[in-house]
Parts: sequence; structure tokens; C-alpha cells
Amino acid sequence: MDQYRVFGNPIKQSRSPFIHQKFAEQTNELLNYQSEYVELGAFELAVRQLIKIGGKGANVTAPFKEEAMTLCDHLSERAKLAGAVNTLSFKDGCIWGDTTDGDGLVNDLLANKVALLGKRILLLGAGGAAKGVILPLLEKNPAKLVVANRTVSKAENIVEQYPGKPISSCSFEEVAEQAFDVIINATSAGLNGQALPISEHVIQPNVTCYDMTYGKELTPFLQIAKKRNAAKLIDGLGMLVGQAAVSFNIWRNIQPDEKKVLTLLRKEMSV
Ligand code: ATR
Repeated sequence: MDQYRVFGNPIKQSRSPFIHQKFAEQTNELLNYQSEYVELGAFELAVRQLIKIGGKGANVTAPFKEEAMTLCDHLSERAKLAGAVNTLSFKDGCIWGDTTDGDGLVNDLLANKVALLGKRILLLGAGGAAKGVILPLLEKNPAKLVVANRTVSKAENIVEQYPGKPISSCSFEEVAEQAFDVIINATSAGLNGQALPISEHVIQPNVTCYDMTYGKELTPFLQIAKKRNAAKLIDGLGMLVGQAAVSFNIWRNIQPDEKKVLTLLRKEMSV
């Protein structure tokens, strides 16, 4: 049976085996997908071992997404720009690296009927999660994409990578002076139980608020959005399933039904 893994540290909480198992059932693909805890410093070894047993591919999660790039013989353009890889494919004796997070996000926004063409998008954060979604967002031709970050220099560095594109950077304070249609939280503030230092006034009733994180309860960012009567509140579970679907398609050349698996996953997480 074809072997796949998701490598991470920690990894116990990963929903990827559940998602890929459901995709495989749906599409009648015969494969085995498991999560694997990898000690820091042992990532390359884990990848080489998987290749040795005839593995076909792997997903990569924190903290190995940058290191995964260095092992690849071939990198997609979007992985190069993101500076990270979440999908490895082993074929023709080579390692191919791609990142599917951005497409996962954009597909989920579209599935939630959030238009991006000509819209004003605010992206909060400039870490790995933010970097991975910029190219796919720009490809949807928004009016503007503003990257705001606590450490502004990091947002500036990202913007420099996209000359001629409608992208700019600013501080969290400067966010308050602008209007947006879509606000995406790509910071890890909520995960650490910290509040996002942005003015709540930027969340107006016409705004869609998207949080790349998720949990049983509404995330802290979405709680604020709800209080502010934002038009739509969307958590990152659809993005998780979406990025998995793009990876699955890369490996198996077949598109799974994301919506069905998202419904199953939500049910599974609510118990
Ligand atoms: P990830 O891979 O999840 O993006 P990361 O690369 O460590 O993780 O990036 C975390 C992001 O969350 C960064 O944009 C970080 O801001 P800084 O670049 O200024 O560190 C942001 N972040 C984390 N905690 C935050 C907080 N309490 N308030 C605002 N931003 C925060």
C-alpha cells in the first residue's frame, strides 16, 4: 500500500490522518497515511527513512516547514515565495516540494462565498502562516492586500518580494485608519491566549473575518468579530481540509470532496 506521513513536533493533535483517510475512502484510493512525531534535528532522517520504505509523499507541519525546503530537489514557485514546504512528493528519485496552505485558504474563502476580486484585504501577521498565503491571495486580484504585523520590519520584508503588486505593509496602529472588506488573522496570538493589539473599529458590519486557527469554541479573534457584528465569521478548519485536498490531488491526481470531510471533521471535533 502506498505510504504517506505527516511529520511534526508536536503531532498528536494532527487531524491530517483523519482527513486523508476520509479522502481515500471517498475516492477509492488505496493508501496508508499516518502521523509521525519527529525529534528536533531528526527531520531529514525521517524523510529519508520514508523514502527508503517506498513512501510516496508527506505533509510537513511545524516546526519543519522551512527545513523541508532544503531537502527538495525541485520547489514550486509558490513554495519558494512562501519560504516553506508543507507537501513533499517522492518520484523519479527526487524530492518535490510544494505548499498548499494558500490554496487551502483561498478555496475555503470561495467556498464561503467571500469575493476577493477588487476587495481590500487585511492580513494580520507576517510569520510562516502569513507568508504562505500571499501569492494565492494576490492571484485573486484584490484591490489591495495590507500586511500588518507587530514587528513591522517582517511585514516590510514580505512586501519587498512582490514588486509591482498591490501589497503594502503597516503597523497594527496604522490599521485603524483604513477600511477593509476581508480581515485574515494569521498571527499565533490567539493560540498563545494573547489578545491581538488591533483597534476593534476596523471590524465593521460589512467585513468578513477569517481566522486561520480553529478550536471547539470561537477563537478570540472571531469572538471580537462577533461582538462587532462582522458579516461573516470563518475559522481555519476549512483551510486545513482545503490544504489537505490540494496535497491529496498532487499525490493521487484526484480531487476529493472537501465539504463532506469538513462536515465530518466538525462533528468529530464537537464531541
Ligand atoms: P506561524 O508559523 O504560525 O506564522 P510564526 O512564524 O512564529 O508562526 O509567526 C507568528 C506570527 O504571529 C508573527 O506575525 C507574530 O508577530 P511578530 O512577527 O511581531 O512576532 C505574531 N504574533 C504572535 N503573538 C502575537 C501577539 N501577542 N500579538 C501580535 N502578534 C503576535
